[in-house]
Amino acid sequence: MDMWTAMARRGAIGLLLTCALVAVGVAAARWLPLANDGVHDPTSPAIGVLQEPAEALSALPPDSAGNQVRWVQALDQGYITPRSQILAGTQVNLRATDVLLKNTGEMPMVRFPHRQHTAWLDCTNCHDKLFERKAGATKINMFLILQGEKCGLCHGAVAFPLTECERCHSVPRGSEAALAFGKGLVLER
Ligand code: HEC
Ligand code: HEC
Ligand code: HEC
Repeated sequence: MDMWTAMARRGAIGLLLTCALVAVGVAAARWLPLANDGVHDPTSPAIGVLQEPAEALSALPPDSAGNQVRWVQALDQGYITPRSQILAGTQVNLRATDVLLKNTGEMPMVRFPHRQHTAWLDCTNCHDKLFERKAGATKINMFLILQGEKCGLCHGAVAFPLTECERCHSVPRGSEAALAFGKGLVLER
């Protein structure tokens, strides 16, 4: 191998190494280490014993917002299989209907999916204090949501953040999906 080939190879390896380091840096920056997340006491003996978020969460379907995990996909695709109850006698309630919320002005309409919610939550988390069990009966709007009420009680707190407009506003007026609702079909995604 002549000198130029050797230098070119070294250059290529150098570039690869730089890319790898940048990738590690990006991955590490997505989740703060527990010791400097502003929540855990960095002097606690639990630091070093508790699993780091980056180690646990980097194996799950990625998101670009919130805590960087697409949780519904993680559950649907079997990455996680959380226990549905602690006591064997606890009744697990599931529901599969989608509700179309139409008071969205210029924005696409909002599809509220029951299946994706009852996979994590019980009916009583939402009914009947937050929402009536009747489509269109509850006053919901962005003002309330941004104040942390209605959908905003969870979204932006424990579920994906309110900056992800299109994840809620997912049904354009006049679209096939909108027409399917009119025919009484339940949409699956
Ligand atoms: C994350 C919150 C949430 C959970 C959990 C939830 N719901 Fe709902 N539910 C809603 C919302 C939002 C609406 C629509 C309210 C509106 O249009 O004003 C709704 C509407 C309804 C409706 C009327 C529309 C329809 O689908 O027929 C019924 C009935 C209902 N829910 C039953 C249930 C039952 C039973 C469960 C548990 C198995 C449940 N819900 C769990 C939020 C929830
Ligand atoms: C967690 C779900 C969710 C997210 C995220 C969300 N919205 Fe909404 N939005 C709603 C719901 C629910 C309504 C009320 C629909 C109804 O009552 O029929 C609404 C209503 C609206 C309306 C109608 C007027 C009003 O003030 O209520 C506008 C405009 C709107 N949203 C814009 C946005 C924009 C822009 C974003 C992103 C910055 C956003 N929304 C993010 C759920 C959401
Ligand atoms: C009691 C808590 C709670 C309330 C109230 C709530 N959500 Fe959610 N929502 C969740 C959780 C938990 C998830 C799953 C985690 C995630 O996707 O971030 C979720 C997921 C979703 C998804 C994603 C489904 C998917 O396939 O990825 C949509 C869309 C959604 N919510 C819309 C709404 C709308 C619209 C409202 C108000 C009408 C609402 N949510 C109210 C907790 C809630």
